[in-house]
Amino acid sequence: MSDYSVSPTGQKYAIPTEDEYAAELERIESLVAVARCEGKEIVVVMGVGFVGAVMATIVADTVDKQSGRPSKFVIGCQRPSSRSYWKIPMLNQGISPVKAEDPEVEPMIRRCVLEKKTLVATYNSDCLKFADCVVVDVQCDYLKKDLGNMRTGKVEMGALEATIKTIAEKVPPDCLTLIETTVAPGTTEFVAWPIMKKAFAKRGIDSQPLLAHSFERVMPGRHYVSSIRDFWRVCSGCNADARQRVEKFLHEVLNTEEFPLTVMDRPIESETTKIVENSFRATTLAFLDEWSLFAERNGVDLIKVVNAIKVRPTHSNMIFPGPGIGGYCLPKDGGLGYWAYKHILGFEDDIFKITTTAIDVNDTRSLHVATLTRDALRNMGRQIAGAVVLLCGASYRQDVGDTRYSGSEVVVRKLTEMGAEMRVHDPYLEHWYELEKQDDYPAPGHSLSRFFRNQDGLVNIRVRDNLPASLAGAEALILAVPHTPYLALEPQKIVDWAGKPLAVIDCFGILDDDRIRRYFELGCEVKALGRGHIQRIKEEVRKGK
Ligand SMILES: NC(=O)c1ccc[n+]([C@@H]2O[C@H](COP(=O)([O-])OP(=O)(O)OC[C@H]3O[C@@H](n4cnc5c(N)ncnc54)[C@H](O)[C@@H]3O)[C@@H](O)[C@H]2O)c1
Repeated sequence: MSDYSVSPTGQKYAIPTEDEYAAELERIESLVAVARCEGKEIVVVMGVGFVGAVMATIVADTVDKQSGRPSKFVIGCQRPSSRSYWKIPMLNQGISPVKAEDPEVEPMIRRCVLEKKTLVATYNSDCLKFADCVVVDVQCDYLKKDLGNMRTGKVEMGALEATIKTIAEKVPPDCLTLIETTVAPGTTEFVAWPIMKKAFAKRGIDSQPLLAHSFERVMPGRHYVSSIRDFWRVCSGCNADARQRVEKFLHEVLNTEEFPLTVMDRPIESETTKIVENSFRATTLAFLDEWSLFAERNGVDLIKVVNAIKVRPTHSNMIFPGPGIGGYCLPKDGGLGYWAYKHILGFEDDIFKITTTAIDVNDTRSLHVATLTRDALRNMGRQIAGAVVLLCGASYRQDVGDTRYSGSEVVVRKLTEMGAEMRVHDPYLEHWYELEKQDDYPAPGHSLSRFFRNQDGLVNIRVRDNLPASLAGAEALILAVPHTPYLALEPQKIVDWAGKPLAVIDCFGILDDDRIRRYFELGCEVKALGRGHIQRIKEEVRKGK
């Protein structure tokens, strides 16, 4: 293992050695002593990743409703692994370890660390012994073995189990532990609680551990902080004391006056709420995949169909699925439920038909983009093998720089497998780590590269920010994500920058009919997900209408 941890921006931090731990604990202890004198509650947040870093900051920003003074001192605790240690020194400098589009994130972290001094980060988990409350924000993944068959996958909860064990070995008996991680239903009561009870018994503690669950509904983007603080929460506790404590804590740190708490009887109910909520979303998106193909083959523009339906208030949240469904949650959460039914709750029958199919459909939808690109080039007398293809938009949704499980990644991988020379443009990204660091990002063995051949060269892909230069010599352009800067692109400019007519593939209803027509007039070929009316426009242009 390397002795350094390198941040995504290339900063190198030496990983602390064993003899540094004692001094680190003393540093934390003296900060805790001051905080206690000021009457602050001590909160440890385990895992300062995407969610934990911002949740820790929101708690650190909390003020007492009567006095207006800061009421919590927060310790962000993170394993000192080579992959993650860098987050600690970064946070301690007041710099966000996560890149967020929300302008509130950076100043809030800086304010809490450097001015209010209510937030500190450490690698020494012995800090848990100071905790009044521990918030768990470590990951719990679902690792798929096959692309398009989630049933062969499994839950990876090793990090969560290890964290729970560490907590139970170190916290004071009356400390509240709050699991925010999205978990397989049953995990809090039937996996975590027994681990904690065992550790408490070993320590000779005769009270029950206070364990609660309340999942995150955070949304990456410009309202990141608000999506944690100013949003409805669901919570539950393993027993009445834990339930009462978690309610109190969430009322103190979140805006529950405007966004009331829902309190469930048991953790399996709040855990299931999260999984059903995200499976519902994944299913309604997957459902449109078959209608997207129907539309393509029968002269129908599914974008117009969706817009026509959305005017009904009862159907107003219908959304066009784009090139697959990405993000950290929707591709995996149904898998947590599917797996729990058998492996935690002990059932052998197969009740899951829709949730599993939805995830499989969503995971493979973007492969169709590669087919469309191949067909568009073929219609122009060109081949995909060796063709220069520019993909615009690597993120999984518009106007964010978040590439986790984006459909665009599958598009790039599939076209690379077919021999295309891929280029990538995205105004919101500097690096696409899923490609650049595919050997160990998001974790060793987790890269989607495992499902495709011929992927080695993708480590050399660099995200470009100059669109005209990126287009020079391109034979195909894939508009994958409706980032604002892509919406107004003029066909004439695109063709000028490319230097010749090219194939244009629209994955997200980005092109209006006038632009589609213009591309055909300029000698281009246009194809799109779910937009069968394009054929009609093409015929009209050919007939000179
Ligand atoms: N990111 C989102 O948009 C989102 C939205 C809703 C819910 N969630 C859920 O929130 C949870 C956390 O997600 P995330 O995006 O923050 O993940 P992440 O991978 O960014 O962060 C997890 C962090 O925990 C650390 N960690 C792992 N094991 C640890 C240990 N033993 N001790 C201390 N730290 C440890 C990791 O190094 C990492 O920094 C997940 O369950 C996820 O499903 C995420």
